[in-house]
Amino acid sequence: MHNLKTTSLHVRDNQLWILDQQALPQQQNWLPAHTVEQLVEHIHALRVRGAPLIGLSASLLLALLAENGLARAGLAQALEVLRASRPTAVNLMNNLDRMKLALAQDEFVAALGKEALRLIEEDKLLCENIARAGCELVKPGSRLLTHCNTGGLATAGVGTAIGVIHRAFGQGKIENIWVDETRPLLQGGRLTAWELGELGIPYQLICDSMAASLMAKKQVDAVWVGADRIAANGDVANKIGTYSLAVLANYHGIPFYVAAPQTTLDSNCPNGEAIPIEQRSPLEVTGVAGSFGAVQWAPANAAVYNPAFDVTPAELISAWVLDTGIVTPERVRDGVFSARK
Ligand code: MRU
Repeated sequence: MHNLKTTSLHVRDNQLWILDQQALPQQQNWLPAHTVEQLVEHIHALRVRGAPLIGLSASLLLALLAENGLARAGLAQALEVLRASRPTAVNLMNNLDRMKLALAQDEFVAALGKEALRLIEEDKLLCENIARAGCELVKPGSRLLTHCNTGGLATAGVGTAIGVIHRAFGQGKIENIWVDETRPLLQGGRLTAWELGELGIPYQLICDSMAASLMAKKQVDAVWVGADRIAANGDVANKIGTYSLAVLANYHGIPFYVAAPQTTLDSNCPNGEAIPIEQRSPLEVTGVAGSFGAVQWAPANAAVYNPAFDVTPAELISAWVLDTGIVTPERVRDGVFSARK
């Protein structure tokens, strides 16, 4: 495969490298993801994260393993191990389904390489199309609130919700972005703050618990988030804390938008209750760790509840902004996301 580079993936001399998203922004370390074990470990540790990026990294690694001589049976096994690396974001499963079809072809090495590159190029295009569609909903002088990280770090392109923000900024429509720090792993405080700074987009970092008072003070014009999985009825799984924002936005009469590519749709999943939610280590809640150091503030044996995602019911979502355009609640109720349509 030829060398390629996105914001957080690098293929060089037929090997995959990843930008360690746990060390950002203090350190920019590229780590080897040359084996399935290495990539799965990076995915577990959220060094590779974000729904689209997880799927793309797994697909690229599979293609590279094939080029480096792994036989079909080994590749089939690797595919299943990668598929099981994180349960909630469906992009991983959707991408690997396509890689599985490539693996079934006679010329599977070439087919896997082609498919992985196609997925990367498609993702860039999906991001562009989401950004274009989403901009129509952004009014001049907007003060938008976003959660988690949905930018170039999490995709191969300009991102999803951040892609919309980026393009709207280019159109002169953005006054300020409120960046939720996004406890427990601080994807907002570390990654979104860093990305917006790099892009020159004005932002203010807030603790997750500050959104309500900002909304009450009429400082938020709309909320923009990404998605890890969209069920057939429009329910959306996204980073923990998204649901609280949707409830708050609804109470304060503020639009709540979800930006995602079609690779995040799970038409076979009837509703949010059927979306598997990843539970993570208690250590992420009893303290915090990163390239800045580690600290634990809770008692060592504190009992902890730590789901990585929550589900926002469709009724709280003002519009789903996909690469195919803006999807209204009426169309979702008509079954536009359903496999039967
Ligand atoms: O646990 P993470 O950091 O992988 O969670 C990421 C999110 O929830 C994002 O909002 C989602 O994947 C969309 S990224 C374009």
